[in-house]
Amino acid sequence: MTTATTPQPPTVPLAIWPVAQITAQWQRAGRYLPDCTRHPGKMLPELARRIVTEYSDPGALVVDPLAGIGTTVAEAALLDRRAVGVELEDRWVALAGANLDHMLASKQRRRAEVRHGDARRLAEILGDLAGRVDLIVTSPPYACDAGVIDKPAWLAGGRLCPADTLNYSTDRANIGHARGPAYAAAMAEIFVACHAVLRPGGRLVVVTKNTRRKGRMLDLAGLTVALATEAGFSYLGHVIALHAAIRDGDLAPRPSYWQATQLRHARQRGEPAHLVAHEDVTSFIRITTPSEDAHAR
Ligand SMILES: C[S@@+](CC[C@H](N)C(=O)[O-])C[C@H]1O[C@@H](n2cnc3c(N)ncnc32)[C@H](O)[C@@H]1O
Repeated sequence: MTTATTPQPPTVPLAIWPVAQITAQWQRAGRYLPDCTRHPGKMLPELARRIVTEYSDPGALVVDPLAGIGTTVAEAALLDRRAVGVELEDRWVALAGANLDHMLASKQRRRAEVRHGDARRLAEILGDLAGRVDLIVTSPPYACDAGVIDKPAWLAGGRLCPADTLNYSTDRANIGHARGPAYAAAMAEIFVACHAVLRPGGRLVVVTKNTRRKGRMLDLAGLTVALATEAGFSYLGHVIALHAAIRDGDLAPRPSYWQATQLRHARQRGEPAHLVAHEDVTSFIRITTPSEDAHAR
């Protein structure tokens, strides 16, 4: 029996979400348009759903400034939020729109959209919604190579990824191309843009994955906390989103084909790489500025 004098283990300020009990493919099967699988860096639908549920209420305005094929937008709309995505690449904007038509009932569809544009101009793109956003959920490129996998071409001796899909497109404005200081500078601009459109007290939730580049670990979660704090956000917490199923007390990782290939190449180069089987979910609150406080009084 536990008594008041029983020593308690220290609490760990960390939560773990098992969001991959079923595979990404099955989370989308029969719901998303099959073409959505072509995007190389999608968020798990279960993760988008969990974040929207935890950090907003029905009726809230949810925005994803790096929307891809619009997973956040679709899941938020299904949870009765108003949802707006922004995406730089026309091909993903078009696919996101078609997918919303496919997934949503007409009432939800009227409250969900993906707009074309550069996330660094978020306030301009959102127009009169700027300053009223309750929650931003986003997953930036991870400062490492990504591309649409063309397995048949690769098995026939061709490229694994068509050149025009590497790092999402050939457009250098796409943050998928940014590395090192250029990546940090681009993300700093995005967090400032997010701060400008959130209402006071609004939340920012960012999903990243720590990856290796030339043998060195990139601490994208740490960089996110530093940049978001600099942009004026207050850091709330860190959740581990498991990309592994829990089966009989063991973890069964679910690496993508791309991830497994990269890992094999790293080990062939002699790098002591291991499989990263989680994403980092860092959350922030937009605290009021002194001038907003003065205005409210
Ligand atoms: C990791 S993916 C996000 C995927 C999304 N969460 C989903 O589930 O589909 C990042 C996206 O950011 C887009 N992107 C990159 N730079 C951008 C920019 N400057 N403005 C808007 N979107 C951008 C990329 O084209 C890519 O689709």
